[in-house]
Order: sequence, then C-alpha cells, then structure tokens
Amino acid sequence: MRLKDKVAIITGAGGGQGRAAALLFAKEGAKIVASDWNVASGEQTVTRVRAAGGEAIHIGADVSDSAQVRRLIEGALASWGRIDVLYNNAGVGYSSSLSMQDILKTPEEDWDRVLAINLKSVFLTCKYAIPEMLRTGGGSIINTSSVAALVGGENAHAYTASKGGMISLSRALAVEFGPRNIRVNCICPGVIDTPMVEPVVGPLKDSNRPLRFSPIRRLGTPEDIAYCALYLASDESSFVTGAVFVVDGGITAR
Ligand SMILES: NC(=O)c1ccc[n+]([C@@H]2O[C@H](COP(=O)([O-])OP(=O)(O)OC[C@H]3O[C@@H](n4cnc5c(N)ncnc54)[C@H](O)[C@@H]3O)[C@@H](O)[C@H]2O)c1
Repeated sequence: MRLKDKVAIITGAGGGQGRAAALLFAKEGAKIVASDWNVASGEQTVTRVRAAGGEAIHIGADVSDSAQVRRLIEGALASWGRIDVLYNNAGVGYSSSLSMQDILKTPEEDWDRVLAINLKSVFLTCKYAIPEMLRTGGGSIINTSSVAALVGGENAHAYTASKGGMISLSRALAVEFGPRNIRVNCICPGVIDTPMVEPVVGPLKDSNRPLRFSPIRRLGTPEDIAYCALYLASDESSFVTGAVFVVDGGITAR
C-alpha cells in the first residue's frame, strides 16, 4: 500500500476530483479526512470510502473561513493524531454563480470571493496544518491549480489569477519548508469531467461534435488527477517539491 498509515486531509472531497482522490488514497491505506462545505456530498464520500473497506471521517468546512479551517485541522488531529498529507483541492469555477468573465464584467465582490475560496484557502489550511506537520517530522501538500494558470484566456480572470497565485505560493512554501521535510507541489488539471465544467462541456457532450480539447481525444477523468495526487502524497515523490504537474491530455503542448 502506497499510503499506509498516512493521514490525508482532502478539501472539496464531496466533488469530482476530491472524491476520486479520497477513494484512491483510502484504497492505498490512508486515513481520510474528507472535507467539503457541502456536508451531504462530503458524507456521501465517506460512506463510499467505508463501503470499499477504507477509513474516513467527514469534517464540513468552508475553506475560505479561518475559524472553520481551524476546526478542520483540530478535528483531523482529534481523530487521527497527525496530518501527513494536505490536499488543497476545493475550488469554485464555471459551475458557481460567481463571475467567470473577463475583468470588465467581473463584479469586485466576485473577484474577492473567488480569490478567497481558491487562494486564501491555501494560506489558511497551510497556516494551520504546517505547524502540525513540523511537529511530526514533515508532510506533503498538494495544491490544485489549473492549466488556466499557465496560458492566458479570454475569460475567468479571477479564477485564473487565483490559480496562478497558487503556483507561486506553492513554490515559496516549498523553498521555505523543504529543509524541514515538508514538500509542496501543484497539479494543473486540463479539462476534467466533473460538475465544475459541466456548464461548458455539457453542451458539447450532447452534440455530435468531437471532444477536441486535447491531443488525447477525450476529457480527463477525476481518476487521471487522483493518480498524480497519489504519487505526490506518497514517499515515492520524496525528492519532488516546488513542482508543477500538468495533467491535461496535452492541451498546453500546442
Ligand atoms: N474540472 C476541471 O476541468 C478542472 C480543471 C482545472 C482545475 N480544476 C480544479 O480542480 C479542483 C476540483 O474541482 P472538480 O473539478 O472536482 O469540481 P467539483 O465542483 O466537482 O468539486 C469541487 C468541490 O469543492 C467544493 N467546494 C467549493 N467551494 C468550497 C469551499 N469554499 N469550501 C469547501 N469546499 C468547497 C465543492 O462543494 C465541490 O465538492 C478545483 O480546485 C478546480 O478549480 C478543475
């Protein structure tokens, strides 16, 4: 088992990629703290992990809220006693009611909210989880950025900025905490078939138009990302930090 006895917090675990990671990490021996602000979906993930023979608890938290993030970290420690893996996966994108437009069309309050959920959340979870990782000798932090952070786009400017900031913060944390055995890496997914992008890709699926998003002629699956996260969570990646893993079927190779 690749994550035997490791404790992994996964945010946004009620959704596509987070749920896939929870199931895969648990299969590989991790104890899962599945967190989501949607309590019903987070608990459903826990039910599925347990049904598959894994160990998991749900702790509901809005990752943009300092007090709720502190409760998440304290709850993880109360249940499992340590934190080995922090997977910052929660985020809002195209399926949210917040603006995914260019900056001219983005209300200021939407900019602030997207940045709070997608980027400030990483500040908060790291601020409260890193001291615990230091206490137990280290850990692995995985941050979900996006290919939107790597190439310019016509829209989703707040989203893009939040995901770009995540890469910069990850590198800085990797440099600061590498000497103390905490690794920090980013995953940049391409177009992954989850509820988040359904408003954009749904209509294409329903038409006969081929899905030509990437040289590999398909959408990514949540499992495509979960396998990358599994590698980064495990000790197999012990020499990897400050890195950006692009898992996009070749979109950014063009
Ligand atoms: N799907 C894609 O094509 C794609 C591409 C690039 C990056 N991403 C990123 O991947 C990550 C996972 O998204 P997904 O594709 O699985 O979408 P998803 O919508 O299925 O999952 C996101 C989950 O995050 C949760 N969440 C949202 N805001 C939250 C908050 N404030 N506090 C706690 N939980 C919150 C949601 O309830 C949901 O369960 C996101 O960070 C997203 O930006 C997705």
